[in-house]
Amino acid sequence: MSSKSESSQCVRVCQNTSCRKLGAKKVLAAFQTLPIAGVDVEESRCLGQCGNGPMVLVLPEQIWYCRVLPEEVDAIATRHLLGGQPISSMLYRKFHPEISS
Ligand code: FES
Repeated sequence: MSSKSESSQCVRVCQNTSCRKLGAKKVLAAFQTLPIAGVDVEESRCLGQCGNGPMVLVLPEQIWYCRVLPEEVDAIATRHLLGGQPISSMLYRKFHPEISS
């Protein structure tokens, strides 16, 4: 069924040094320009995956995205947060090893 509900999800965008050097500030800003009902967007401290950023973590499902570009945020919002379908090709394989391509 539709995932559209008040169920609260949280998007954490790492804003620590390594991710910021890789553009995390713009990624955070892109999420903040797309307010989605029931989804909180938060800055995060280091998520422990430096060098693979900008890192984005979606809770409570614990879906990780790595090397996120600002222009990819719209797709995450539309397909994953609104549509309930994480984007396989963008997932962080270290934590999603089932993704093979
Ligand atoms: S700085 Fe983002 S994961 Fe460490």
